[in-house]
Amino acid sequence: MSGSVFGKNFVISTWGESHGKSVGVCVDGCPAGLEISEDDIQSMLDRRKPGQSEFTTKRNESDRVKILSGVFEGRTTGTPIAMLVENTDQHSKDYSELKNVFRPGHADFTFEKKYGIRDYRGGGRSSGRETIGRVAAGAVAVKLLKKLGISVFAYAKEIGGICISEENFDLEEARKNALCMPDPQAAEKCMKLLRSIKNDGDSAGGIIECRINGLMPGIGEPVFDKLDARLAGAVMSIGAVKGFEIGAGFEAARMRGSECNDGFLSEDGVTRASAINSGGTLGGMSDGGEIVFRAAVKPTPSVSVQQKTLDINGEEKELVIKGRHDPIIVPRAVVVVEAMAALTVTDLIIQGLGARIDNIKRVME
Ligand SMILES: Cc1cc2nc3c(=O)[nH]c(=O)nc-3n(C[C@H](O)[C@H](O)[C@H](O)COP(=O)(O)O)c2cc1C
Repeated sequence: MSGSVFGKNFVISTWGESHGKSVGVCVDGCPAGLEISEDDIQSMLDRRKPGQSEFTTKRNESDRVKILSGVFEGRTTGTPIAMLVENTDQHSKDYSELKNVFRPGHADFTFEKKYGIRDYRGGGRSSGRETIGRVAAGAVAVKLLKKLGISVFAYAKEIGGICISEENFDLEEARKNALCMPDPQAAEKCMKLLRSIKNDGDSAGGIIECRINGLMPGIGEPVFDKLDARLAGAVMSIGAVKGFEIGAGFEAARMRGSECNDGFLSEDGVTRASAINSGGTLGGMSDGGEIVFRAAVKPTPSVSVQQKTLDINGEEKELVIKGRHDPIIVPRAVVVVEAMAALTVTDLIIQGLGARIDNIKRVME
């Protein structure tokens, strides 16, 4: 097994390489009767498409999705939903010089050691294009969650060390600017910084924050399928993600217990946590409040700055990477984080349906 399957109840299998014929996903376990169209999938896929701004790779892919199965007359049938996106703008020749070289920050070395054979063109399976399948499946999950009144929203919180400010926070702005930052001033500063980093042939990293709202209490399982653990696994499975934290995260390690504990309060008779230091989970289950987590994304590994490396024969090489690469991964990974969060939550909601005899009785009656 190559570990390309995610989820236990709402199960996705992604497939395809960057320079192969196509990439795609099969979603199994989606309940029947959900209205879904190619446009629903496409609108989410368009947010991760390359070539949309000066800060994303110039690879000119239309990334048009085709739904091949599992949808009849605009509604899911309960059978596997297969989706496919063709690769149309490969420049495979750009990679011929890299065939025998281990690019720093890429997965060339580990693929070589593990399999002894690898598609060196554009990273093959470890390419950012692998995330198309996740986003297409995530769009189905987002549609399902919307039916339940649950929303997932991610944005760039920090880029190249420049962070958004609380005072300028404007969620709508995150869908307007090229960097997906909910703070126009911070976005301007980041764009200036990125232009100069790009001029140097270098790249930058950043932090993506994601908020899940409307999630009922009790989603997630108490031991190995904790909501926070499953979210961490889902988000850390995205290429270039190097860190995950939920709620206060690493900051919790510096707090006193009295400061860190989120007290409970009553809002119109509904019990709520008073703060989000716990990130909206307790004992692995949602507490009914907002879930807030963050992902640290490393700088794009393909840089045209000269780097020292080795080839497959152990010879030292000086490497300058040519080709089309994002100077920053964050803006295109925002929608991937949303997709993985939606898939995780959907999977755990379905898993939790059997948690109480009353639920089962209600369905059986
Ligand atoms: C949406 C997305 C787009 C990416 N685009 C690029 C890219 O243009 N150039 C590049 O060098 N890496 C890119 N990456 C990152 C590599 O896929 C990743 O860093 C590499 O495979 C090594 O994996 P690791 O960083 O998780 O160890 C992208 C990742 C994502 C999620």
